[in-house]
Amino acid sequence: MALYSEKVMDHFRHPRNVGSMEDADGIGEVGNAKCGDIMKIYLKIRDDRVDDVKFETFGCGSAIASSSMATEMIKGKPLTEVLELTNKAVTEALDGLPAHKLHCSVLAEQAIQAAVNDYYAKAKAAG
Ligand code: FES
Repeated sequence: MALYSEKVMDHFRHPRNVGSMEDADGIGEVGNAKCGDIMKIYLKIRDDRVDDVKFETFGCGSAIASSSMATEMIKGKPLTEVLELTNKAVTEALDGLPAHKLHCSVLAEQAIQAAVNDYYAKAKAAG
């Protein structure tokens, strides 16, 4: 069996939503100390929904595929739903990841949560 599913390879080779966002409403950046990979998620929020999302991932192929899939999964979704996105759901949507690559999908879950929390913190500070 191939190590990576076709979906992983597709999202790695043709990642969706790559890039940064100058006027992001929320930004989340997380890293994994062991492998040194870093993932950054930018969110544009409208009416408590994800209006747009971009990511920059400095990391392995699984991390890139996970960010790409995760950003597709949260586009247009209400923030309450976005906060419930788990790395398990991302991994399943990718038709699986090798066990030693599961932490790559955890980065996507954590980066998205950090971006939503950043949005909430900024909204609170703005009153
Ligand atoms: Fe660490 Fe993929 S090897 S994020």
